[in-house]
Amino acid sequence: MAEIVEVADLADPRLADFRDLRDVDLRVSLEAEHGLFLAEGAKVVRRAAEAGFTPRAFLLQPKWVDGLADVLVATDAPCFVLPEREIEQVTGFHLHRGALASFERKPLPDLASLVGRPGRLRIAVLEDLVDHGNVGLIFRNAAALGVDAVVLTERAADPLYRRASKTSMGNVYAMPWTRVRGMEDILRVLREHDVVPVALTLADDAITLDELAAMQHERLAFVFGTEGAGVHPKTEAQVDHRVLIPMEPGVDSLNVAAATAVTFYATR
Ligand SMILES: C[S@@+](CC[C@H](N)C(=O)[O-])C[C@H]1O[C@@H](n2cnc3c(N)ncnc32)[C@H](O)[C@@H]1O
Repeated sequence: MAEIVEVADLADPRLADFRDLRDVDLRVSLEAEHGLFLAEGAKVVRRAAEAGFTPRAFLLQPKWVDGLADVLVATDAPCFVLPEREIEQVTGFHLHRGALASFERKPLPDLASLVGRPGRLRIAVLEDLVDHGNVGLIFRNAAALGVDAVVLTERAADPLYRRASKTSMGNVYAMPWTRVRGMEDILRVLREHDVVPVALTLADDAITLDELAAMQHERLAFVFGTEGAGVHPKTEAQVDHRVLIPMEPGVDSLNVAAATAVTFYATR
């Protein structure tokens, strides 16, 4: 059972995991350096625990000590309890849902192990997507619509960062994912495992998503690009198909997370 700690001093060094949450750059480097991530909201905290991540500490409003009793009973991590206003002083932001927990990261698998098993496979590749909200939404779509794993390039946002895990509704924890330095390596490993790479793009020579779906490929990897520039031209040149989701005239493009939902559904 977690040790319940009534915090007497907000400067308590044991609260270190929960400080300065507003400073994205600081948090991203601190979390990577210390091998931790934060989960926000009772549902997201529970999903991280259910996915087998080891809790380091909890910071809860009093009501969540009972609300998360099933999680707390299974750990000996400390559980710091504070009223809402004081949690805000520690974290630097207003915590609507009153529950935070820090967890240990696990080492990432290599891509070959994610695409190695035979049979039907759907992989989402996120090329340099830096927006945590979009990355979280894509994981949620992937989990809902039968995608087997997500691959991110080195520059893409951290799926375990608080904003991404929150928008994913905790679906980042159970979804297999990894990070690979660049597209060259990703495309090579996909081809070695008979996965057909396609890019979702507005390119003039693209086939439509309906045409791709009609081909009934058993093993597919979908590459999605950034909100600004889209999929890198070098990547577009290397994939087997460039694929367009047809839109009404006058609309430039879909948001990338919306594009993933349409793509996963049409090819499920
Ligand atoms: C906002 S769009 C990028 C638009 C960018 N200006 C371009 O020309 O590609 C972000 C990503 O969503 C996907 N996307 C959005 N709308 C799409 C569409 N209609 N067809 C195919 N992919 C689309 C692509 O992967 C794209 O790289």
